[in-house]
Amino acid sequence: MPRGMKIAVNMGGGDAPGLNAVTEAVVLSAYNRNWDVYGIKNSYQGLLDTDEIVHLTPEKVWHIASLGGTILGTTNKGNPFRMPITNMAGETEIRDVSDKVVDNFKRLRFDCLVAVGGDGSLKIAYDFFKKGIPVIGVPKTIDNDLAATVITFGFDTAVGIATEAIDRLHSTARSHERVMVVEVMGRHAGWIALNSGISGAADVILIPEIPFDMKKVCDHIMEGELRGQRYAIVVAAEGAAPAGGRALDKGAGEVGRQDVLLGGVGEYVAREIARCTGKDTRSLVLGHLQRGGSPTTFDRLLSLRFGAAAVRFIAEGKFGSMVALDPPEVKAIPLEQVIGGIKRIPLESDTIQTAREIGICLGD
Ligand code: F6P
Repeated sequence: MPRGMKIAVNMGGGDAPGLNAVTEAVVLSAYNRNWDVYGIKNSYQGLLDTDEIVHLTPEKVWHIASLGGTILGTTNKGNPFRMPITNMAGETEIRDVSDKVVDNFKRLRFDCLVAVGGDGSLKIAYDFFKKGIPVIGVPKTIDNDLAATVITFGFDTAVGIATEAIDRLHSTARSHERVMVVEVMGRHAGWIALNSGISGAADVILIPEIPFDMKKVCDHIMEGELRGQRYAIVVAAEGAAPAGGRALDKGAGEVGRQDVLLGGVGEYVAREIARCTGKDTRSLVLGHLQRGGSPTTFDRLLSLRFGAAAVRFIAEGKFGSMVALDPPEVKAIPLEQVIGGIKRIPLESDTIQTAREIGICLGD
């Protein structure tokens, strides 16, 4: 076993419940091998401005597995390969500052980087691997849309929160005989919407995998009305789009952002339902509530397993790979096989079938 390894760990993209558990497991597993771990603050910012590096001793991470958020901070704007920099004239230009990251990484004598992130951040990690940084990736997203791993941590927590929200909407929707439309996260894949919608007994679930037809949605609500069900719950993933249309976004977005900020489908669907059914309709966006707070036991355990596996794979020299759950094992999958691969819900899956068989409309 190599001795005296110096490991850097960072987080990228949106936070997800379980990030602190990953950090805890990385630090403790490394410590038990007599290795040192340093936390890089705010994604790659800590490798550009090295004041933002913190030595993570076991005392700093004991029992943080239950805490939401991340003690290291994260961002979805800090891509060192495309960094927005404001020049002397006050204009923002995009520059590649990745060499500086590599130089600082080497100067500080790090042996490897554990990069925790979603698709965008793992792509950056892979680009650094190609520039000579030994990298182990850890998959993270509440959306659960990353290829190669059966599940990502944060997803179970998000589904639990969304399900509880839907449960609560039933009583108010029933009292007012209203249609309630709830927009949940899920950019490219509808895992949160489908799992929480089925569990929370939604009437309609709209997901990015199935373009929806407003007429079908309205007909379904009116059929319920004829059977005496005078209220309805609609769950829409933020990435769901009408047939022939595109997912709604919030305009140009923020400078340097790695992705487009989606949102607005819930409001759109609510407006259309009110127009075609004449029913009192309200919409709400669950938003970042789905990412906040403590991870569930499932997410905590998965995160701890991923963190420990990352250090195990460092010991085995499996650089350039990502930790992935392939039950019952946690495996190392080459990053190049993972990048850009979105895991959508298979249309023939048992969960989709279940939704249809218990009478949920999927908008088609
Ligand atoms: O990718 C995870 C995610 O939570 C998406 O579901 C959502 O579209 C996005 O992040 C929101 O990003 P932000 O935190 O920047 O608002």
